Amino acid sequence: MRTNEFTRLFNIRFFLIIIVVLFLLNFGIEKVKWPAVCTQNEATPVSVGTQVSTVPESSKVWDAIDGVGYQFKNSSTEVVLDKRFEELNNLPLCENLKMAKIEQEVKNKIDDLKKQFFECISPIVSRWKGNPTAMNIEWVSKARICDHLPIFKSIGVVPFANLHEIKWAILPKCKEENVMVTLGVGHDTYAEEKLNKTLPNTKFYGADPIVEPNRQMYSEFGKFFPFAIGREPGFTKFRVLPNQHQKTRAYRFEDVTTIPFVYFLSDILKLKKIDFAWFDIEGGEFQFLDQLHRDGPLDQKGVTICQMNLEVHSKFHPPGAQVFYDFIIRVLVEKRYVFLQSLPTDVGVHRMFFVNVENEECVAKFFQTF
Ligand SMILES: *[C@@H]1O[C@H](CO)[C@@H](O)[C@H](O)[C@H]1NC(C)=O
Ligand SMILES: *[C@@H]1O[C@H](CO)[C@@H](O)[C@H](O)[C@H]1NC(C)=O
Repeated sequence: MRTNEFTRLFNIRFFLIIIVVLFLLNFGIEKVKWPAVCTQNEATPVSVGTQVSTVPESSKVWDAIDGVGYQFKNSSTEVVLDKRFEELNNLPLCENLKMAKIEQEVKNKIDDLKKQFFECISPIVSRWKGNPTAMNIEWVSKARICDHLPIFKSIGVVPFANLHEIKWAILPKCKEENVMVTLGVGHDTYAEEKLNKTLPNTKFYGADPIVEPNRQMYSEFGKFFPFAIGREPGFTKFRVLPNQHQKTRAYRFEDVTTIPFVYFLSDILKLKKIDFAWFDIEGGEFQFLDQLHRDGPLDQKGVTICQMNLEVHSKFHPPGAQVFYDFIIRVLVEKRYVFLQSLPTDVGVHRMFFVNVENEECVAKFFQTF
């Protein structure tokens, strides 16, 4: 009897001890958790907190320090191709075109375009002689006049809208593998995705020193490279958009791994012709603009750019005003590129679209008519 009661008493005590231990353990874990939860709440605005909780676990990004990060939408199951896709997919092969000479009609049209464009832009640029600062500030309001030349209408420049700006392109008149290079992905790949759904056979290469979410976004259709592009190899300050600054789009200066422009295009990607170059690198462009000129480092490697969307950021790098000035003066002398769609982004920041009217392969591919 006594033994029985002892056993029962022991069982009850044992049970109670287990409950107390479990309670303490639970309490202990909570105590450890609290500070972490607090810090996150402090850094996260209230409205954002609710938004984060509605995002499925699978699409959260791990390095968003403030808990915001890039908000991925559920990837839609069905890709809807652009109306022009079929037509572009059925174009004659460019190989056959290269055999044929560029038609005299096309040559005349290009000559006419160059003549009209340079006659329009040269007097405008000469008014800024020796004054790069004025040129950078007044660029869009003055240079834009030449965008309205009727001949530009006939070359078929079409928009590909990004979330924050519009990229421009001339679609090919023959079929081959197309190459697109994005420098500065900037958490925005709408325009690339549109191009991917419009133009068959396009290889996309994108570089940005901020890895997430750019890697994840760009990998949907292309190959992503996690570094900045500049003049010299190294570890240098670049203006970047960190993942944790999605809401504010507050760029900041960070030390990032930098790969030289020509080395990237020629040695890493092994490219000879880039059909679509989209450069938006927050002032980094000034490091290599002079390498695009005739007989420059890019020419020496035999790399040609057919079309280039360029954003010019002298605001974030004042010495860049001089670099841009020198670049434009050389462009006017060499007459390799015509440019249009000068549009403002901000005071001291503008965008432009350059078209190569010199390289025969570019001209044949984008201007040849059948
Ligand atoms: C995203 O997908 C998940 C799982 O497929 C689903 O539960 C969720 O409701 C979707 N969210 C949105 C915003 O469509
Ligand atoms: C890219 O385009 C191809 C068609 O060429 C399409 O099959 C694919 O789904 C597209 N990818 C994206 C992410 O839009």
